[in-house]
Amino acid sequence: MNTRVTDLLGIRVPVIQGAMARIADGKLAGAVSAAGGLGIIACGGAPLAWIEEQVRIAREIAGDAPIGANVMLMDPQAPQVAELLTKLRVDVVTTGAGSPANFMAAWKEAGIKVVPVVASSALAARMERMGADAVVAEGCEAGGHIGELTTMALVPSVCDAVRIPVIAAGGIADGRGMAAAFALGAEGVQVGTRFLTVEECCIADAYKERVLKAKDSDTVVTGRGSGHPVRGLKNKWARAMRKLECDAAANSDELEGMYAGSLRRAVEGDVDGGSMMAGQSAALVHERKTAARAIADLLADAEVRGGMNLQQLACANAQRTGRAACVVEGKE
Ligand SMILES: Cc1cc2nc3c(=O)[nH]c(=O)nc-3n(C[C@H](O)[C@H](O)[C@H](O)COP(=O)(O)O)c2cc1C
Repeated sequence: MNTRVTDLLGIRVPVIQGAMARIADGKLAGAVSAAGGLGIIACGGAPLAWIEEQVRIAREIAGDAPIGANVMLMDPQAPQVAELLTKLRVDVVTTGAGSPANFMAAWKEAGIKVVPVVASSALAARMERMGADAVVAEGCEAGGHIGELTTMALVPSVCDAVRIPVIAAGGIADGRGMAAAFALGAEGVQVGTRFLTVEECCIADAYKERVLKAKDSDTVVTGRGSGHPVRGLKNKWARAMRKLECDAAANSDELEGMYAGSLRRAVEGDVDGGSMMAGQSAALVHERKTAARAIADLLADAEVRGGMNLQQLACANAQRTGRAACVVEGKE
């Protein structure tokens, strides 16, 4: 399949595995890239030596296929991570939670494609002016840190605001979601929750089981009060967190104490005391699969159950912006 996203990133299928802090390592990213998508190593909160090692592992698995890494810009060590990724010359950097302005020039000079994750059309337009190659428009159905807008409202609004390609994220776990994203104007999708249960994903089995069993109403948002909302599965930890957030007497130290190490605990299998980040699309994830199978099924399913020719939609989306040729069956 050929869209402006596949052309830009040098990948075979327009499916990006979203960064997942403490989870998306070189093994997962490498498997996704080897399968034709783009695997992203999550660098948020990770030691520099770990990042370097994961890039090595991902490259070993992916061979010549490109690999990406994600920088959480609110991370105090973001400047060091940005410098390391420039040195390692990863193919793509995605950014979240802030402005990549300080790093853009160095990344561009190193030939790295820069793809910020945005939650509003205003931020998308700002990123385009700053030189971003594409944006990920992530709706609040997603797992992890979220904005306010839904994917359904955000994606077309971002598509109207920028000329660079738009990748949709949030709530996409099967072909129907992918087809819908393309119908909204996207030329690629970023998927997180679907990859939590693939064989190559490192989270504990107990966490995977909770994702597989989740229903559509089984996620909850914590952290709204602090301005850093996070979506995850309902469990003891999330209920206690919500209770504390509603308690007018609770102070920020108590809240921070609850957050500290909570994702790590979930990743290691503490499904009661950890923060099991996952999106609403967990309700659509019923099987374990390999990363390659998940990607192949997503694409096949988009055309069968989604009832749409993704290639034609992608070309229409690119042409509507009046700036890119897209080849269908040999014709421009
Ligand atoms: C467990 C988890 C951790 C995440 N961590 C990050 C992160 O470190 N950086 C980031 O930019 N996005 C992060 N995300 C968001 C994903 O990259 C992706 O955009 C999102 O999961 C897509 O929506 P979906 O969950 O509905 O598939 C995380 C998502 C999950 C589920």
